[in-house]
Amino acid sequence: MSQTLLIPMPDNERLAGRLADQLDCGTGELITRRFPDGETYLRFNTELGKRSVAIVCTLAHPDEKFLPLIFAAATARELGASKVGLVAPYLAYMRQDRRFNPGEAVTSRQVAHLISQAFDWMVTVDPHLHRYGDLSEIYSIPTRVVHAAPLVSRWIKENVEKPLIIGPDSESEQWVTAVASDAEAPYCVLQKVRHGDRDVRITLGNLDAWRGRTAVLVDDIISSGRTMIEAVRLLAAQGWPPPVCIAVHGLFADRSDELLVGAGARVVITNSVGSGRSQIDIAPLLGEAMGALADLGPPDSAGRRPRPHGS
Ligand code: R5P
Repeated sequence: MSQTLLIPMPDNERLAGRLADQLDCGTGELITRRFPDGETYLRFNTELGKRSVAIVCTLAHPDEKFLPLIFAAATARELGASKVGLVAPYLAYMRQDRRFNPGEAVTSRQVAHLISQAFDWMVTVDPHLHRYGDLSEIYSIPTRVVHAAPLVSRWIKENVEKPLIIGPDSESEQWVTAVASDAEAPYCVLQKVRHGDRDVRITLGNLDAWRGRTAVLVDDIISSGRTMIEAVRLLAAQGWPPPVCIAVHGLFADRSDELLVGAGARVVITNSVGSGRSQIDIAPLLGEAMGALADLGPPDSAGRRPRPHGS
């Protein structure tokens, strides 16, 4: 019988609860607080026994979360957990995938190393795989990637008439082609050059062939929002009505969501980061992916997985 226990890191309780319902497994409690000097106090308030543990922690703003996460994984092991997995709907640092300038840290690889040391498996949603073809190039533990494209396509089909799917840069092409194909819509990919964290230049080209359609910008991440904001601005300059801006991960640094809404755009994201703006639920796909890695046991005849003892 399954012994899997879901442990949410702070602010991940809702998603962990959804996954626990879906997988019919228990959730445990982890108490954390800061000492006056800023160090982390952490205590499992649930008996772990020899259960398989899955820690749920989305990794937006990762620096403040990472050390407590590593402490939690190490403590779970010390307390006897048979396996310790990580459910990280948003996986941070993936965009630092090359030494762009001499002396820079390739932090994607370093984070991968630290997570691989601390955990037995990991499930995530659409990591930013650009120069890496697959997470296995940097992660040495088993990983499963959930793709939000089918959910994004479904949302577009249900909510947008005559969409034109637009990728704001070449890196978005992998998501845009998948979404456009499922949504049975035409697509195009723009050219973007980034000059700095908040300085991007985009070439829109001539989109006249698709006049009368609704522009739907699709990207994996909205961070500073400069990519989306610039694309929205250029579309407006060509006389297009405000577009729909869809991203898998809404990080929304610099209040970029408010800026986009202020420019008339409709902003749509998944709940990978837990923003109140999310309209697309990735929990069911995450649960399915976990089933393949966590020790959840076989489903019963109704498709439910066994509830661990004592939960
Ligand atoms: C980068 O290539 C990504 O796909 C996104 O386009 C980028 O991370 C968005 O960042 P920002 O919102 O800061 O422009």
